[in-house]
Amino acid sequence: MNTGFIGRIRALKSEENVLGQLLWAYYEGKESSHFEIWERSDGYISVGLTKNYFSEYEDWALYQRKALEFVKGRVLDIGCGAGRPSLYLQEKGFDVLGIDISPLAIKVSRLRGLKKAEIMSIEDVNFKPNSFDTIIMMGNNFGLFGSFKKARRLLKRFYRMTSENALIIADTRNPYKKDNPAHLEYCRLNKEKGRMGGQVKGRIRFEKYIGKWFDWLMVSKKEMKKILKGTGWKIRKFIDSEDSQYIAIIEKI
Ligand SMILES: C[S@@+](CC[C@H](N)C(=O)[O-])C[C@H]1O[C@@H](n2cnc3c(N)ncnc32)[C@H](O)[C@@H]1O
Repeated sequence: MNTGFIGRIRALKSEENVLGQLLWAYYEGKESSHFEIWERSDGYISVGLTKNYFSEYEDWALYQRKALEFVKGRVLDIGCGAGRPSLYLQEKGFDVLGIDISPLAIKVSRLRGLKKAEIMSIEDVNFKPNSFDTIIMMGNNFGLFGSFKKARRLLKRFYRMTSENALIIADTRNPYKKDNPAHLEYCRLNKEKGRMGGQVKGRIRFEKYIGKWFDWLMVSKKEMKKILKGTGWKIRKFIDSEDSQYIAIIEKI
């Protein structure tokens, strides 16, 4: 690894590594891997296309392409998946380290050509001061913060390990900007339980694999500003998509 990583490494076991199994199967060309099945704690099922994790820059949504224009210097890609943004940035000449909790995601990223890819959970991300100039959290990966409290704890850590003018580029979805009553009801019930509205508990299923439940955090712009307060970071700019998805360009105060 290029930088001084401090701490322990936590990785998923094979049977818990459901998204990794899916990415690996797709990489291997397995028919059953074309859809990502996501189950929410209230039983709501969403289906995504696995091919999106492998898509090329030209096929990305415009708001994602615009956001990556802000990338500078040494890059840490948190939750790099199959290496989609990392590979693009590496090709552009950036020094990129992709990390992911899933050993199979890292295996796929490496096989696809990512030079620096390491198994690591966001919770264990801890590098020496001034190790990175940009942290990217693409593909809705602001969600990896999981909760209000954890987001603030990790943002303070990210502050310490980045350079003076560092940026965080974080992709999320406004959970309240929805016309589906089931989603709005889920947000309402979450708030009743003292959770953030968009703190969604879910798990991924693929073939015989059923992942562990995890919290995925989606926030409005107002909530994001509240999370950042007192962490040393502030919003420079929001980049909107055509729907509720948006990216925050976050800078040091
Ligand atoms: C929605 S995918 C995004 C992939 C990629 N960033 C992209 O835009 O194509 C989320 C990724 O985060 C990884 N992940 C989940 N929990 C994680 C954690 N605690 N720490 C690091 N990575 C994690 C998953 O294995 C998965 O590869």
